Amino acid sequence: MSLYEVENLTRVYSSGPRRVVALDDVSLTVERGQRLGIVGESGSGKSTLIRLMASLDRPTSGEVRFDGRVVSGVPERRLGFLRASVQLVLQDPRSSLNPRMNVGDIVAEPLRSPIIRRERGDLDPRARVAEVLDAVGLPVDAARRYPHEFSGGQRQRIAIARALAPSPEVLIADEAVSALDVSVRAQVLNLLMGLVDELSLTLLFVSHDLAVVRHVCPDAVVMQAGRIVEAGPTQRLFSEPEHPYTARLVAAIPAFRARP
Ligand SMILES: Nc1ncnc2c1ncn2[C@@H]1O[C@H](COP(=O)(O)OP(=O)(O)O)[C@@H](O)[C@H]1O
Ligand SMILES: [Mg+2]
Repeated sequence: MSLYEVENLTRVYSSGPRRVVALDDVSLTVERGQRLGIVGESGSGKSTLIRLMASLDRPTSGEVRFDGRVVSGVPERRLGFLRASVQLVLQDPRSSLNPRMNVGDIVAEPLRSPIIRRERGDLDPRARVAEVLDAVGLPVDAARRYPHEFSGGQRQRIAIARALAPSPEVLIADEAVSALDVSVRAQVLNLLMGLVDELSLTLLFVSHDLAVVRHVCPDAVVMQAGRIVEAGPTQRLFSEPEHPYTARLVAAIPAFRARP
C-alpha cells in the first residue's frame, strides 16, 4: 500500500456565477520515502492539490487516503494521525510566523495542539524546541527572540523547525524557497535536503521551477490547468518530455534553451 493515494480529485471553487476548476480529476500515489516534485506554472493547481492532501480543504469529488485511511472530508478531531504525520512549510515565512509570538512558542505550537498531543504526547515541548532549532542550524537562544529579528532565510529555518517539531513522516514544501534570494535559497534547500535524508522523510516538493525540482526530486508530476499532464522520473522529463507543456517548461530553463 502506498503512503498516499489520491483518487480522481476535483476541486471547483465557485463565487456567484463564476466557477474555477482548480483541480480536475487528479490521481497519484506517493510511496514512503519518496521525494516527489509537483511542478507547474502559477495557477496550475499545485497548492490546491497539497491543501487537499493535507486535508486543509475538502474536495468537490474524489478521495485522499493516507496510510490506508480516508482523510478527505474527515472532521478535524479525527485527523490527529495526519496532523502529527504531515507538516507543511509554506512560501512566505513573514505571513506564516506570528510576529507576536517568540520563536520558542512558534516552534512548539504544533506540540500544543490537542489532537497532535494525543499522537505525540511523549514529546517534551521545551526539549524538542531546542532539538529542532539545533537541527536547522539556529542557536538555542533563538527561542526567546521574535521573527522580525531574523533574516528571510533564518525565518524559513524557523518554519522548517516548527514543521519538524512533531516528528512528522511527511514534509510538504509549497514554494518553500521561492521567495528567498538565490544564495540563501541554496543554503535553505541544502538544509532541507539534509534533513529529509537524515530523518528519512517523505517529501512533496511544490515549485513553479522545474530546475529546482530536478535538483531535489527523483520523480515529479507536471501540472497544467488543474490536471497532471505528465509524470515520471525527473531526469526523463528533461531528456524526453512527452507533453508539449513539459517541453516548454524545460525550454524555459536557460541552461536547456540551446539544446535540440
Ligand atoms: N480559495 C479560492 N477561491 C477561488 N479560486 C481559487 C481559490 N484558491 C485557488 N483558486 C484558483 O484555483 C486555481 C489554482 O490555484 P492554486 O492551486 O493556488 O495554483 P498554484 O499553487 O499552482 O499557483 C487558480 O485559478 C486560482 O485562482
Ligand atoms: Mg501555489
